[in-house]
Formats: sequence, structure tokens, C-alpha cells
Amino acid sequence: MEERKGFGTNFGFLMAAVGSAVGLGNIWGFPNKMGASGGFTFLIIYLILAVCCGFIVMVGELAIGRKTGKGAVAAYHAISKKFKWMGWMGILSAFLILFFYCALGGYCIKYTVVNIGDLFNASFGSGAAAELAAANDTSVGAEVFGAFIGNPTEAIIYGLIFVALTMLIVLGGVGGGIEKVCSVGMPALFVALLICIIRACTLPGAVNGLKYMFVPGWAVTNGVIEKAPDFLTVLATAGGQMFFSLSLGMGAMITYGSYLQKKENIQKNALLIVIMDTLVALMAGLCVLPGRFALDPNGALGGPKLLFITMQNVFDRMDAVGPIFGIIFYLLVVFAAISSSISLLEVIVAHFVDKARDEGKGDKRKAYTLIAAACVGLGCILVCADALGTTGFAPGNLLGMTGDLPTWAADWLDFFDMLSEGIMMPLGAMLMSLMIGWEIGPEVIKGEVEQSGHAMGSYGFFKICVKFITPLCMILILYGQIKEFFF
Ligand code: TRP
Repeated sequence: MEERKGFGTNFGFLMAAVGSAVGLGNIWGFPNKMGASGGFTFLIIYLILAVCCGFIVMVGELAIGRKTGKGAVAAYHAISKKFKWMGWMGILSAFLILFFYCALGGYCIKYTVVNIGDLFNASFGSGAAAELAAANDTSVGAEVFGAFIGNPTEAIIYGLIFVALTMLIVLGGVGGGIEKVCSVGMPALFVALLICIIRACTLPGAVNGLKYMFVPGWAVTNGVIEKAPDFLTVLATAGGQMFFSLSLGMGAMITYGSYLQKKENIQKNALLIVIMDTLVALMAGLCVLPGRFALDPNGALGGPKLLFITMQNVFDRMDAVGPIFGIIFYLLVVFAAISSSISLLEVIVAHFVDKARDEGKGDKRKAYTLIAAACVGLGCILVCADALGTTGFAPGNLLGMTGDLPTWAADWLDFFDMLSEGIMMPLGAMLMSLMIGWEIGPEVIKGEVEQSGHAMGSYGFFKICVKFITPLCMILILYGQIKEFFF
């Protein structure tokens, strides 16, 4: 039987796992949520949740992956009677997230191209949008975005380019494709982020961005938001953000863990992934918010509009070097998105490749990667053609709903996001902690973690969390997520 090839080095594994965690969620989710939910207070709640739930589930996923040496479906099958179906939920989540993630990744490629156009005063820059903005009294970012959204064919082409890039890396396998790309790309992303932070924080007026992000209550006293959210809402916001940001609850870390060598230290790696993901989220805030407060004070603070309207305005208003920073910034975002989307595609591909290998059919990575990417491409086309719900076939329209549509029904992006991020991921993480705590027992995880020869120093803490604290927090988070999407 052919050998199952994994990560060559621990550094490569770490960069791939951090790459999976660092994505759009860090850039447009975290800074804004932190600012609107109480600055430092939010950060402390986030960190507590990251340690009591994020770290716990991360250790659990990596250990289950490495113990079984299988992708999500076979891993659950191998260790649990009651929860063996959960791997399939992971595969389904991976598809749903990829549908909208690739569409957004495509948008980011488009913005890189626009900024290259601006650098050379080319026709594919934002020149036409600037004229329209002056005529309509809007902003350049808004016009660029409007024109792009209004042209679904272009959005589809960029989305499919993103799918193709993801596919090419996954075709190369874990050691040859994913590890190589992330080992170079993640350090580069870090440097690019530092460059953007220095530029953003030295703009006049930048300090308000820092105050928004860090000073508790600043956003309310200064009228940026109307009223402070209550404690339960903050808890649910922080928890939901943490889960999505750490790529937990759907088998991505099980899959990556299954390629990890027995000699590597799972406990240390899990901690490093949580720390680096949080660090990049904070750094992303230091990059986008000062820019927003300095150069587009009325612009969006989070979500797609922050990335595709506000930030474009920031680069447009910067000065002659604006396009250069625009290119660095959007390339950084494209890479953050790709390093996440490859881990999502790998969840799907690993399952089918393992199955074929176990049945003695040899290495079918190429065939399965192509098929999976083709399916993702179809979903991505749907999200791009829907153009954020502006072309009349949003889920709500198809269901015949009238009046103001609730968020989940207003466009396909939010619909897929609601199912995956809102329901399946928190549910997956909750069931996983129940499975470890009450079905297979935390000592199984301890046994696997200690394979490397390092004692599991956090075992006492792990045991209490995985049995009681994590499932309890997960119920609150699930409740908060459902509330956010439906009400
Ligand atoms: N963590 C990614 C981000 O912050 C998104 C994401 C969610 C993800 N779930 C995932 C990535 C699963 C890979 C695997 O944007």
C-alpha cells in the first residue's frame, strides 16, 4: 500500500495550521467586534474563551487526527460509536464555507488588480470609479465595489481563479503543496502586515482607531455605536468569533493533525496556534482601524464593506504611494484567504483519498482534488452571481418571503455562513467535547498527546474543561450565534 505522506517539519505543520486559522475572520471580524464590544474587556473575555474552549478543542482535534491517522470521517468512525456521523458534518461544512470563502477570495484578487492598475494609471485601475464618485457624490471604494458587484461575470471569473489556485496547491499534496506554500507565505504575510501597520499608525488621526479598538466604552461615548452590548451578547460574539477564527468544529484540525508525526508536541503546537491567530487578529486591527479612522471616518468598520469599500477609500486617499500599500494589503488578504481555503479543501480531499487508498485503489489525489474543486466552483458561481443578494434569487426570494429579509435569507453568502459558522461549527465543537469528556474519556487524548514523550502538563485543566466548561460555553455560543443570525 502507498505510504500516507504528511508534514515534513514541525515548522511546516505550524505554518499550515496557523494559515488555516488566519483568514478573513481575523481581518474583518475580530478588530470590529473588539471595538464594538468593549475593547480590552472583550479581549480578556476572548482570551479566557480561547483557553477554556479553543485550546481544549484544538488539542482534542489534533490528537484525534494523529491517533487515527485518518481524515475527519474515518477518524470519528474509528473512535466513537455515537458520534461517527460527525465527520460528514465536517465535510459538508467545508463545502459550505468554501462556497463563500472562494467568492470573497476572488474579490480580493480583483482588488489587488485594481491597485496594480492605479499604480500604473491603467484602465483597470479605479479611474472610472473616481469620475463616477465625483459625479454621484459617493466614494471611490463604493463605486469600485458597486461596479464589480454589478458585473457578476467578472466576479465569477475572479472567484474561479481563486478556486483554481486553491486546487493547484492541494494537488501538490500536504508536504509538497500545502506545507511549502505556507512555510514561505505565512512569514511573508507577517512582514506585509507589519509594513501596513507602520503606514496606518503614522497617518494623522490614526490614534482614534487605536482608541476604538482598545479603550473600553470609547465607541459608545464617541457615538461610533449606539449602545454597548450586554454581557451575554459579548460572550457569544467572542465565542463565535473565536471558533470561526481557529477553524475548529469541522474537522480541519483533525485532518491536519492526521499528518503530524508522533514525535511532535501537540500541546505546545495547539497553544502556539491559538496565540499566533490572536496576535494576527490584533495586528490586523492595528492595520485596518487606524486607516479607517484617519482617512474614511464614516466608512464601514467590519465585514465585506470594510475590506472592499473602506480600505479602498483609504488607499485612494493616501497619496502617491497609496496603490503600493493597496497591493501589499490585498495580496496579504488573498494569501490569508488561500491558506484557509486549502485547509478546507484538504478536509474533503483527504477523506476520499484515504478511502481509495484503504480500498487498494492507489493514490487518487489528483482525481478527487479536481472533482471537489469543480463542486466548490459551482457553489462559488452561485455566490458570485447572487452578488450579495442584489440579483433577485436570494434564498428568501426563492422561498417567497416578502418584506425585509432576515440576514440568513438575504443572500447566499449569509445563508451558507449561517449554516456553517452559525450552526454546524459550534455544534460540532460542542459534540466533540462531549464525546471526549463522556464517551471515549479524556485519558485517550492524554495518551495520544504524550506519545511525543512530553508529559501533558495541562491534563487536569483539560479534563475539567472538556467535561463541563467547554460544553457549557458552547451552548451559550451556539445560542448567541443562532440569535445573531435569526433575530
Ligand atoms: N479560520 C478562518 C478565518 O478566520 C476561516 C475558517 C473557518 C476556516 N472555518 C474554517 C478555515 C475551517 C479553515 C478551516 O477566516
